[in-house]
Amino acid sequence: MSLKVDLSREDTLALVAEANLAPSAHNTQPARWRFLPGGRMLLLEDVRRRVPFADPTGKDAMISLGGAFEGMSLALSCRGLGLGAPDLGDSPGGARATDDDPYRLVASATVLEAGARDPLAELVTLRRSYRGRFEADASALESVHCIVDAEEGLSVIDAPAEIAELARAHDRTSYRFLQIPELQAELYAWLRFTPAHPDWHRDGLTADCMAMSSLEARASVMLFRPRMFRVLKLMGLGRLATTEASQTRSAAALLVLHQSPGRGWFEAGRSFYRIWLELTRLGLSACPMSALADDPDECASLRTRCGLVRTAAVINVLRVGKAPPAGAPKSPRLPPDELVV
Ligand SMILES: Cc1cc2nc3c(=O)[nH]c(=O)nc-3n(C[C@H](O)[C@H](O)[C@H](O)COP(=O)(O)O)c2cc1C
Repeated sequence: MSLKVDLSREDTLALVAEANLAPSAHNTQPARWRFLPGGRMLLLEDVRRRVPFADPTGKDAMISLGGAFEGMSLALSCRGLGLGAPDLGDSPGGARATDDDPYRLVASATVLEAGARDPLAELVTLRRSYRGRFEADASALESVHCIVDAEEGLSVIDAPAEIAELARAHDRTSYRFLQIPELQAELYAWLRFTPAHPDWHRDGLTADCMAMSSLEARASVMLFRPRMFRVLKLMGLGRLATTEASQTRSAAALLVLHQSPGRGWFEAGRSFYRIWLELTRLGLSACPMSALADDPDECASLRTRCGLVRTAAVINVLRVGKAPPAGAPKSPRLPPDELVV
């Protein structure tokens, strides 16, 4: 049944704030919302938040937007409401009213009067990307296997030698991507090394979320400047500055998220978020390793390693484990009134 009473401004702001806790690549938070009379809701993409060099096909943007849609469904479920199936329209690129319009229509859906509380909703404020080293904990691997048995589209890699091999592959691939000057400059624009950055409380990747000490962060302000990074590379220190191998090797397992090719990245984003929340429910932390999913050769090798069909689409790879008790810091989010357009 569709909603007869329109949502108040207060409800709307609370809902979009909760939906915006979904993960997004580089913490760009591209999802914007428009609520129409009669319970119709539009999910829009703010195209100014795109990262065209890191994400040339828009795959990560669509995964982020799918996650936000799922976040909205979870938020509505806490208020006894639901969300109908998303209408993604006919054009895969989505519509923009004019070329100057920063908002692209991604999906529309109807807010429904009936909805049972989604058990994953209570985990939304607890889920975070954890980028430090995991603790050794035998129960973590058992929990990973529980989720792999229960969910579709998940393959697990848990042999230490294989994890180490993929840690090297991930570092190698990330470093290769970073050789593209435009991609490096684009990434730099989303890095927030000190609280003095004007967007520290709003978006992007803050030093504490990147698990950097204050000393590392202060040094990185300078070293990661695109021009300086070139010097670092010349000194042979670029690789050292970007490696995540020890964090990856500390993982209990790597989870490969995959789906059939026809399903689309929006739906992938919905599953991605739910799986991450399931991991949170089991007391596990995770960090995406997108470089592996972005590289066609690495994807092909993951398909072979996991026994997947040649056409399977690799959504992402998560390194998963038990974080130390302090856990991961909360990453920033935009104020909700900027999300309703
Ligand atoms: C599609 C996608 C790809 C991502 N890729 C990476 C990645 O390669 N490395 C990483 O550290 N975090 C990655 N993230 C995590 C985001 O940076 C993170 O969700 C964002 O900074 C918000 O932080 P939170 O997850 O703690 O809320 C990715 C997230 C999404 C949705």
